[in-house]
Amino acid sequence: MSVTRAVVLGCGSALPDRVLTNAELAEMVETSDEWIVQRTGIRERRIVSEGETTADLGLRAAQRALADAGVEAETIDLIVLATATPDNTFPATAVTIQERLGISSGAAFDLQAVCSGFVFALTTAEAYLKNGLATRALVIGAETFSRILDWQDRSTCVLFGDGAGAVVLEAQPGAGTSADRGILASKLRSDGRHKEKLYVDGGPSSTQTVGHLRMQGREVFKYAVAMITDVIEDVFEKTGTTADDIAWFVPHQANKRIIDATARKLSIPDSKVVTTVDRHGNTSAASIPLALDVAVKDGRIKRGDLVLLEAMGGGFTWGACLLRW
Ligand code: UT7
Repeated sequence: MSVTRAVVLGCGSALPDRVLTNAELAEMVETSDEWIVQRTGIRERRIVSEGETTADLGLRAAQRALADAGVEAETIDLIVLATATPDNTFPATAVTIQERLGISSGAAFDLQAVCSGFVFALTTAEAYLKNGLATRALVIGAETFSRILDWQDRSTCVLFGDGAGAVVLEAQPGAGTSADRGILASKLRSDGRHKEKLYVDGGPSSTQTVGHLRMQGREVFKYAVAMITDVIEDVFEKTGTTADDIAWFVPHQANKRIIDATARKLSIPDSKVVTTVDRHGNTSAASIPLALDVAVKDGRIKRGDLVLLEAMGGGFTWGACLLRW
């Protein structure tokens, strides 16, 4: 059966120049490099400089993805930007990126699913491509979480970083089997009963402020592995594949312990796991496309490889996506 697949043509990423180390954080709050590394695996993260915004990072990642794909910006007819840290409440930061890329046709909008944003955005763009609503899409994850952190709260400020990643997707015909290139299956979930475990304590309609990130870290940790493995098992079932078939596991980079526990539960060997949390921290919706770009550019992920993505975050939201690169 012939089907339309959303195939990745190229990827790119961008990080701010400024590196913030654990040692520097230990001078700001009561913490230590040892605690942060042991509990999270994070050694350093990047932080935007004054005036640098989510659109700046997202634009750079998008330009690099377009160059990698070898396509012109004007051929893009859909931009989906996953972000929880937009430049403004509105308009969508995606339209700023659209304008700065010189695109004035097609559609551009932001998508808000916090740390799961990139998996949600990829799945949304795929649905548009499959239904003929667009032909070539830019899917971007870009965040400046340093802007919404409470820098006095050691339980959260050591965990997050800034960055952006992007992929170019194109609608292409496929045979309808798991040998096709492109997105093969996705599963998205949300459960608002958990919304108070990870949230920002401000917003335009409630406090008229931006607010700060608040998290019950241990509570999030408790649910993470089970929720993630559940959606991964769903995409395996939908495609008739197993963990043995995947070439690369590219998880959301929140915590090395969550990544390791998930890989162990699925019997995925360490050698197939892409980990960047040590250098990037948790960059929310940007973490997966950043990790993808690292592993593509260093030669690990190659055309034809089966790649498994997953994320879980505020909401809770969580999801998995299986694609052939
Ligand atoms: O991407 C969105 C999803 N978010 C996540 O996936 C985050 C999930 N949660 C986690 O990654 C972990 O729960 C954390 C890394 C946030 C915390 O690790 P934990 O092993 O769950 O530690 P904890 O929260 O149970 O805290 C243990 C202790 C506490 O002290 P007491 O109460 O045992 O005396 C904290 O006050 O560690 C203390 N603590 C710190 N100590 C030094 C909390 N933050 C720090 C810190 N430095 N930065």
